[in-house]
Amino acid sequence: MCKRCVNRRANLLSWESTSYNLKYRRPLRCLAARKTISMQMNAPLEHLTTEEFEKLKRNALEARQRSYSPYSKFRVGCCIMLKSKECILGANVENASYGGAICAERTAVVKAVTSGARDNWLCLAISGDSLESCISPCGICRQVIREFADLKMPIVMFNGDGSKHVIKTLQDLLPLSFGPEDLAD
Ligand code: THU
Repeated sequence: MCKRCVNRRANLLSWESTSYNLKYRRPLRCLAARKTISMQMNAPLEHLTTEEFEKLKRNALEARQRSYSPYSKFRVGCCIMLKSKECILGANVENASYGGAICAERTAVVKAVTSGARDNWLCLAISGDSLESCISPCGICRQVIREFADLKMPIVMFNGDGSKHVIKTLQDLLPLSFGPEDLAD
């Protein structure tokens, strides 16, 4: 197997690195001729190259540097990757009046929407500081993401150094959800 294939195989394995996602598992095979890697191993959706996945991870991790979290000292970073592969970053912003805290995901969502990127989201990734666990979006953030994202959109949850991740679709995280179309008539 060529070096490129070995790298891609490693990437596929890493997409499968969580036992949560085995139901989408497919047999591994040489992908030399293909430009992109299907993320269907874990979540039915679009395609990301190895480089794009690394970009997503880097941005989700780096976004934590923008966190303002003097009260909880719990930094969270978020990256929304658009279908154009442009990344919009967010971090949690806390307040002396604790209830005023805004999560990283909602910061990123509001940034995306107010910069004109209301749709065409490819995926969303988050990271906390814990090396052991991959944090997942809180309930309010799931609902806010639901307003703009396709239910099949993958949400990638990284641990603190990006060595672990879990991938779920928005549908997985927010089953039987209520959305804009439910108000239609
Ligand atoms: N936090 C997020 O940014 N995203 C979540 O999905 C969970 C919680 C933040 C809010 C607060 O600043 C800190 O983490 C502790 O709850």
